[in-house]
Amino acid sequence: VLPWFRQMRDDQPVWYDQGTGSWNVFRYADIAQILTDPATFSSDPGRTMPPELVEEAEGSLVAVDPPRHGRLRALISTAFTPRLVEQLAPRVRSIAERLLDRTFVDRGPEGEFDAIGDVAYLLPVYVIGELLGLPETDREYLVRTADEFYAISADDPFDGTYMASMQSTLDGLGTYMLDQAERRRARPGDDLMSALAHAEIDGEQLNDREIRNFAVLLLTAGHITTTALLGNTLLALGERRDVMLRWRHGQVDTADVLEEVLRHRTPFTEVYRFTTTEVTIGNQVVPGDQLLRLWIASGNRDERQFADPDTFVLGRDSRHLGFGLGIHYCLGASLARMESSVVLEVLAERTTTLAPAVQGLSYYDAPGIFCLRSLPVSYRR
Ligand code: HEM
Repeated sequence: VLPWFRQMRDDQPVWYDQGTGSWNVFRYADIAQILTDPATFSSDPGRTMPPELVEEAEGSLVAVDPPRHGRLRALISTAFTPRLVEQLAPRVRSIAERLLDRTFVDRGPEGEFDAIGDVAYLLPVYVIGELLGLPETDREYLVRTADEFYAISADDPFDGTYMASMQSTLDGLGTYMLDQAERRRARPGDDLMSALAHAEIDGEQLNDREIRNFAVLLLTAGHITTTALLGNTLLALGERRDVMLRWRHGQVDTADVLEEVLRHRTPFTEVYRFTTTEVTIGNQVVPGDQLLRLWIASGNRDERQFADPDTFVLGRDSRHLGFGLGIHYCLGASLARMESSVVLEVLAERTTTLAPAVQGLSYYDAPGIFCLRSLPVSYRR
């Protein structure tokens, strides 16, 4: 897909795809223009989607426009401040340690494990469970639900069949989340679900659908994306033994590696918007009420923005689009960075060498996601 992105950036940077009825945007500058102008480019699917699907999205922060977006985001941001994320770090560490202990318990001092299946796929689900204050005994249920979710694939994410099968998977999860919220209403705890269950905007409590959808959004936005970042980072280190060695010797910051992976192997490849009015993007006039697919994975490889974009370079100063841009900038960015750093640290502590496979790998085919299905890693302890 990368050669196609390059060709599109050069030849048709704003391209109407008849098949999906969407305008596809490939250049960094055009994507940045759109993401930073929410009045012209709405996130509300209500503009083009059937009403029954739109109702279902109510409260899902990523699909809400200003002014409500700002109020909802302010409310939820209190759970994602850098201080709270720091406080969560020891719990994330203990989850990572337990997962790795379990992975290594039956394996000898040398061998192979699956960095995705054994660690990276599970950890983000457990962490979101912690954040929301869900019972530990429900973790397996959450993982199974996520499995169902990623088994659904589609060439066209806006196709009705895809949306409908996705919705049926989400319904069960929604009911579960709402039940959890009810319990917190009766007996609040020190967790995000309790905060949501008691939160008010303009003197009104969030309605059930808003609570449910936000809780579901966390699990869908915060899971496989983080799995992808971790897997893509280990793969990047596997491909560059020199960086791996320098990283192991503390000569390279984990944070710098993660940032370049977010650009170079963008875990979440596209976001969408809707035009509220006729507008010019690049040289292309786009009518109102049109669906836009913004290929951030292409923007991140745009040679107009990044020198030598296909090369992995630590410490670039230009800003990548891996977490989006503007008012919808990923709320979980610091959490995702922290989780990934902690896992990599624990992995480095528990092994003396790590050699991720770099060939014969397969990826999830769910839309928008650039995530390995499994990543065999040879290790020595
Ligand atoms: C939004 C990527 C991890 C929660 C976004 C957006 C991107 C993104 C690109 C912007 C969507 C848009 O503009 O339409 C990622 C990546 C992650 C990650 C690559 C991991 C490496 C997380 C985590 C959480 C999270 C761990 C929470 C547990 C959210 C939320 C939004 C969001 C709530 C919506 C923010 C808003 O609309 O104001 N994410 N995300 N994400 N992300 Fe993440």
